[in-house]
Amino acid sequence: MTATAAQIIDGKSYAEGLRARIAGHVARLKAEHGVTPGLAVVIVGHDPASEIYVANKARQTVEAGMHSEKYELPETTSEGELLALVDRLNGDPNIHGILVQLPLPRQIDPTRVILAISPDKDVDCFTPASVGKLQIGLPGPVSCTPLGCLMLLRDFVGNLAGKHAVVVGRSNLVGKPMAQLLLRENCTVTIAHSRTADLPGIVRQADIVVAAVGRPHIIKGDWIKPGAAVIDVGVNRVPAPDKGKGKTRLVGDVDTQAAREVAGWITPVPGGVGPMTIACLLANTVTTASLINGLPPPRDLTP
Ligand code: GUN
Repeated sequence: MTATAAQIIDGKSYAEGLRARIAGHVARLKAEHGVTPGLAVVIVGHDPASEIYVANKARQTVEAGMHSEKYELPETTSEGELLALVDRLNGDPNIHGILVQLPLPRQIDPTRVILAISPDKDVDCFTPASVGKLQIGLPGPVSCTPLGCLMLLRDFVGNLAGKHAVVVGRSNLVGKPMAQLLLRENCTVTIAHSRTADLPGIVRQADIVVAAVGRPHIIKGDWIKPGAAVIDVGVNRVPAPDKGKGKTRLVGDVDTQAAREVAGWITPVPGGVGPMTIACLLANTVTTASLINGLPPPRDLTP
């Protein structure tokens, strides 16, 4: 039997189109309602990966026509100082979204900071109020990476109702909200995790696999059901001696080369889910800016 290679889901190109649509919504909000969506991004310390993410977030916010504020605080910032900044941004009428980049230095409790963010401006969808709204289907921001995964699945796979989705990973950031969104699409959802018995057997049942574990190539090609949609959220840096001494490369949680021989659709790493996360952060900022101003959020930016 000859296997047909999976269709590659090009998240980079989809995210470009999404950002163009977002820019259109921003232009309409400005022209018709005098509202310029504003996003404040806060970073504490000098984690190199976080610095790159935050720079990209600020740049893409401006490119979409939004107001952007970036706060780079020293590693020694106290929890009180960070909470005071969050409080000020909560009350700033030019700011509709607040993102405090994680991880934070040891002296700051991330939970206290998350709880201090106004749910109306919670573009990460981290606060209990936002998580609750997502769970019962009320309008509001949706966790960025899961929203990006859902947009790709809807666009490439189509109707998801009745499909068995297996989400591997149970983090608050990705696994849990992803499962919630897939349930809202009428999927039958299984959440698998590090204590799951017979993970290969569970994944083999999946019409949709979302891998969000953070372990390079943990999902093997022969675990994939023929024709399944495979969404790889993993971003793992591994040694790449073939590129030179000390060089590294990014790989996902899925053994893509093997899985693409079997799957129907698959996201590459890099260039799959990654570019969608920032685009969805911008989408959430348009959503919160709309809701804060008593306007319905654009339908194509929310699930
Ligand atoms: N650090 C890594 N990913 C994220 C994210 O989605 N939001 C925030 N606030 N910090 C992160």
